[in-house]
Amino acid sequence: MPTDFLVTTALPDPGMTMLHEAGSVVLPRARLSSDELAEACRSGEFRVVVAQLGDIFDESLLNAATITGISNYAVGVNNIDIASATRQSIMVGNTPGVLTDATADLAMLLILGVARRCVEADQFVRSGKFTGWQPELLLGHDITGKTLGIAGFGRIGRATARRALSFGMHVAFCPRPPGDRAVADGELGEFAGKATHLSWPELIEASDFLSLHVPLTDETHHLVNGDVLSRMKTSAVLVNTARGPVVDEQALVSALSNGVIAGAGLDVYEAEPELARGLADLPNTVLLPHVGSATIAVRANMARLCAANAIAMARAEVPPHPVNPEAWNR
Ligand code: NAP
Ligand code: GLV
Ligand code: GLV
Repeated sequence: MPTDFLVTTALPDPGMTMLHEAGSVVLPRARLSSDELAEACRSGEFRVVVAQLGDIFDESLLNAATITGISNYAVGVNNIDIASATRQSIMVGNTPGVLTDATADLAMLLILGVARRCVEADQFVRSGKFTGWQPELLLGHDITGKTLGIAGFGRIGRATARRALSFGMHVAFCPRPPGDRAVADGELGEFAGKATHLSWPELIEASDFLSLHVPLTDETHHLVNGDVLSRMKTSAVLVNTARGPVVDEQALVSALSNGVIAGAGLDVYEAEPELARGLADLPNTVLLPHVGSATIAVRANMARLCAANAIAMARAEVPPHPVNPEAWNR
């Protein structure tokens, strides 16, 4: 009999308890290499893999795999080739919703952090340079009255918009950059009359702050490249809590170094955990280590959902949050 769950990295409470109560669990002592993960997936020894963003399930791994499900401990699933998983009748589960507010909070933190030079100011105090209040010490920019452009108007994009409106920002959005699609008033809901639908080229030019909330796909890879950066306001700030490769990071470093845009707040990086050359030397950035969903309560809720998805899949039931429900209808 195969083991029910291969857990690549232990889940926070109550995830592991739920998995142990529901079935058999293997938790390798050390992180599996990509070869070891591929071998485990084709060994016939496991039903469901409980996976992290760093575990890559590409076409060749999936084509040889005997597992029936992957429960990803994240809402983003760009580490998994979903089309190949579906072809191989491998169901994928993710953790949407529970991390929406925390990630939108982080986008606001980056917006404010860059606008008000929070990292520079903190370093100023810690290095003993603060000698008292001064009229022109560390002057930054207001966010009230400024335009926040939101690329991808899904759960986190909308939660960020809600926060920005309460800060007195103007909110504009493009639902599916670089393309577009119609958004009816009914779909806009609470944002009808409050958020302006723009095309991607219009959003790029109108934004004082441009915040990215699209998934990483073939269409969104390098959505923000050198050309896009050159069309932004020179006073603009780019905020990325989505995925690193949505931005051409070396082009961003160049734009920030040359005054093409004014600043950037990043939680994710193109070759995470590596940073593009020169990025860490730029003062006009706030750089966080992919902590969008990192609150104690949110990580516990993600663990609960991730375990629930895995448990359902091990029982051959459609999980609470399937990414590709069609995987088992074929
Ligand atoms: P969501 O509700 O699915 O929203 C995604 C938005 O992107 C929607 O507006 C969607 O358009 C649009 N979109 C989907 N596919 C697209 C494509 N191929 N090209 C352009 N636009 C596309 O997702 P969410 O829960 O807000 O999460 C968004 C992303 O945030 C995740 O995928 C993940 O990568 C990232 N994330 C990061 C952290 C962090 O720790 N920094 C935490 C959580 C999530 P439609 O409305 O037309 O479908
Ligand atoms: C985190 O980045 C997620 O996609 O949940
Ligand atoms: C600043 O601290 C002020 O009181 O204006």
